[in-house]
Amino acid sequence: MPIANDNQSRAAVAIQRCLRLARFSEQEGKITRTFLSPPMHDCHQEIYEWLEPLGARMTVDAAGNFRALYPGESADAPRLLIGSHLDTVPDAGAFDGVLGVVLGMALVEALGGKRLPFAIEIVGFSEEEGVRFGVPFIGSRAFVGTLDEELLARKDARGVNVRGAIQDFGLDAREIPAARLTGDILGYVEFHIEQGPVLEDLGLPLAAVEAIAGQSRLEFTFAGRANHAGTAPMRLRHDALAGAAEWIAAVEGEGRGTDGLVATVGAVSATPGAINVIAGEARVSLDVRHREDDIRRRAVDNLIRAAQEIASGRGLGLKHRTLLDQNATPMDQNLVELTEEAIRGTGCKVHRMTSGAGHDAMIMAQQVPAAMVFLRSPGGVSHGPAESVSQEDVAKAIETGSNLLELLASAKNMSARTRLSQAS
Ligand code: GLV
Ligand code: MN
Ligand code: MN
Repeated sequence: MPIANDNQSRAAVAIQRCLRLARFSEQEGKITRTFLSPPMHDCHQEIYEWLEPLGARMTVDAAGNFRALYPGESADAPRLLIGSHLDTVPDAGAFDGVLGVVLGMALVEALGGKRLPFAIEIVGFSEEEGVRFGVPFIGSRAFVGTLDEELLARKDARGVNVRGAIQDFGLDAREIPAARLTGDILGYVEFHIEQGPVLEDLGLPLAAVEAIAGQSRLEFTFAGRANHAGTAPMRLRHDALAGAAEWIAAVEGEGRGTDGLVATVGAVSATPGAINVIAGEARVSLDVRHREDDIRRRAVDNLIRAAQEIASGRGLGLKHRTLLDQNATPMDQNLVELTEEAIRGTGCKVHRMTSGAGHDAMIMAQQVPAAMVFLRSPGGVSHGPAESVSQEDVAKAIETGSNLLELLASAKNMSARTRLSQAS
């Protein structure tokens, strides 16, 4: 693909690249690329070929993160990280995550060979969605040193653990400590589709993200008694799935009843799973989010209590386990302000918002100043094949990114670096 030389053409190339990477999938006719699944090899290879002409040094670290370092003016220059994730939900759209990686490339290409007072590391994180192992951010956790033994031992639906998945991909989990962030880092910037309707409603192409909502993810198992659907009278049943269904309605009620809270049951499985058998067991997921951690935790406590009450009223057993309890994360205020200045420089009105979706930036923010730019999501749609983005908005995002690089490169902001880091 020829390198484009203006932001509209760069945007067109970025969109084509997202669509091209969408072809590397575990499922015929759908975009599904979970943590270190075989199509991730092709995805890395493709990105490698796009970045080779730029003279970037490329590696895949032991957690499967694709990393490309475009050098700065000097060998000891600090680094700015730009990226997002390369894994997807099942039957995904083409832009969630991937767009942030290809925009990193577009920004380096837009430099036209110019070196900055800092190096740029483009990162394609291996895992952010939490689909294969139920726990998200495997890639970015390796950057901050929290990809621990417990997580490495987690198993997927086929009984393969994270360590095994890393080995199957041709990597060595013993090298994970070497993936940690080291050296002088200016910050982390992530471009991402909004995945919601706010920017479309406001008629704006871009937003600066000021914080990312906290998330809880849990798994509940209702245990009943499997029996014949024709012979067991209704009053003598212990139907695990009916108990779970009653609780799912309570989850929706909790979400609707609390301002700003979202509570979702997105996965249910019943066993034995036959039309003429009362379910003996029902496994149900829970995802709860709010920008305030106290409100989120209170909602989770309420829902655990509700599950216990429903289970005991129906003579069911109940177990639950927490998969994720991720605090809400503010972005670095100084970097957010620079991002806003960069957006303003494109002639767009600046809007600040909290992200309801989780992002690698919330993990990176544990160690480096982090900021995000959202691009309008047409129809507010994401996590499905209807996800899209407009070329004009992508061009504005590239312009914003180039402005941000210039702002960061200016002597004033380079010397404010310590301030950025201290603020994080
Ligand atoms: C990631 O997309 C999330 O679930 O927020
Ligand atoms: Mn994403
Ligand atoms: Mn996603």
